[in-house]
Amino acid sequence: MGVGLEGLELPRTIRTREGLFNTECVLPAEQIQRRVDQMGQELAERYSGRGAIHMLVVLNGAMHFASDLMRAAQRVNPDLDITADHVRASSYAGRQSSGVIRLQCTPSDSLADKHVLVVEDIVDSGLTLDWLIPSLRAHHPASLEVAAAVVKNNPARAENILGGTALHAGFELGNDFVIGYGLDIDQQYRHLDSVYKVTPVTADVLATAAL
Ligand code: PRP
Repeated sequence: MGVGLEGLELPRTIRTREGLFNTECVLPAEQIQRRVDQMGQELAERYSGRGAIHMLVVLNGAMHFASDLMRAAQRVNPDLDITADHVRASSYAGRQSSGVIRLQCTPSDSLADKHVLVVEDIVDSGLTLDWLIPSLRAHHPASLEVAAAVVKNNPARAENILGGTALHAGFELGNDFVIGYGLDIDQQYRHLDSVYKVTPVTADVLATAAL
């Protein structure tokens, strides 16, 4: 992160497969980097002396956050034993959740007796974790926690859904649709180092702009 940021900035208006959107940066790259470094430090401290951390990265969105978090923790404690595996769960098509989780990829390694840290890019409705956490618990990990780069809407509700599973949130945002730092719109814009709010350009606005 942090290198050549100019090349990754987003124009004020973008055209996606869903149409035209206005963009506004809500989490600049530097702010994300600082917070992820801090989370890495907290992670290293929390798991110190507990044994290996088994990161379970929820693809696709969590890929950037997971590797940044892993590196940040390892910088604080180079002896930290971190293993990584992934699951692929998806429910969104464009900006809408289908309400149905599709698990396209399961963990390759056993979770039994491991300190499992689920790594998510975003917790929004909580549907994914509501579905994922009980199925992971059934594998009897030694401990189970969640780290999410962004928690949207209502973190208290997310914690309620998790029912005692600790949730470590990087940032709390409102209900806007956001892209960047792993978050996509129709699989686009995951590569951005910053997080942007996107809002549809309405027909009214377009008509006014054309006058
Ligand atoms: C996104 C994100 C989370 C989930 C959160 O996944 O990566 O896994 O939505 O939303 P929820 O709390 O409302 O369930 P998505 O289905 O977009 O797949 P992706 O990670 O491949 O983008």
